[in-house]
Amino acid sequence: MKHLIIGGSKGIGAGLVQLFVANGEECIVICRSQTEQVEGVQYIHLDVTTDELPDIEQLKTITYCPGSINLKPISSLKEDDFLSDFTVNVLGAVRVIKKYHRQLKTNNGSIVLFSTVAVGQGMPYHTSVAASKAGVEGLTRSLAAEFAPNIRVNCIAPTITDTPLASGLLRNEKIRENTAERHPLKRFLEPNEVAGMAAYLHSHLARGITGQVIGIDAGLSRLRG
Ligand SMILES: NC(=O)c1ccc[n+]([C@@H]2O[C@H](COP(=O)([O-])OP(=O)(O)OC[C@H]3O[C@@H](n4cnc5c(N)ncnc54)[C@H](OP(=O)(O)O)[C@@H]3O)[C@@H](O)[C@H]2O)c1
Repeated sequence: MKHLIIGGSKGIGAGLVQLFVANGEECIVICRSQTEQVEGVQYIHLDVTTDELPDIEQLKTITYCPGSINLKPISSLKEDDFLSDFTVNVLGAVRVIKKYHRQLKTNNGSIVLFSTVAVGQGMPYHTSVAASKAGVEGLTRSLAAEFAPNIRVNCIAPTITDTPLASGLLRNEKIRENTAERHPLKRFLEPNEVAGMAAYLHSHLARGITGQVIGIDAGLSRLRG
């Protein structure tokens, strides 16, 4: 039985691959660029939004990590920005799930998708990514209903996490301090914390959880700082 991690070469996805491998599990990673590889993991290089997806048998879980952070005022965003965010966040996931869900169905599988804290809490300059990630949350609940009782579908909504995707938002020490400060827990996230939640949601321990959007946000969306 294999775990398919779309975007398992960097950031949160790479953290999840490390956890699976440490547990002796078999992983297949799909990503576009050649990066450092983890021994024993199969890497397939393609763009999930455009390229033909290969046949893969005997899947236990799918984790879809590609995403975007395109923060601009609405006056600077073009319709193409919204389309591009929707393509990578929603349509890429739809392509992957359409291709592989039958492989999961026979194996009591689990799917994990990613939203953002900026769906549950309005934030300036987040219109495009929030609109797409709200789509991911809708996809999560609809698919969870459609695939029950065979496949569980859940979503994680993190706050800012120290990954290549967020490198511009955490580009210097002052910004990192300010970012931590605006969270009630006075910190932002490490990728392995978010990866740990994904691993849990895929695990037998989470066999009663489906259709949920789980926030990991250092208190940002629920507490006053
Ligand atoms: N980091 C944050 O602050 C944050 C906050 C809230 C939500 N999230 C969400 O959490 C998820 C994971 O984020 P992350 O920060 O770990 O992202 P990341 O550092 O950008 O890693 C994304 C992974 O996806 C792959 N990828 C991207 N586009 C792809 C494509 N079209 N086809 C195939 N592979 C593709 C990347 O590899 P290649 O580039 O080689 O293709 C990489 O392995 C995303 O959905 C993101 O929106 C992140």
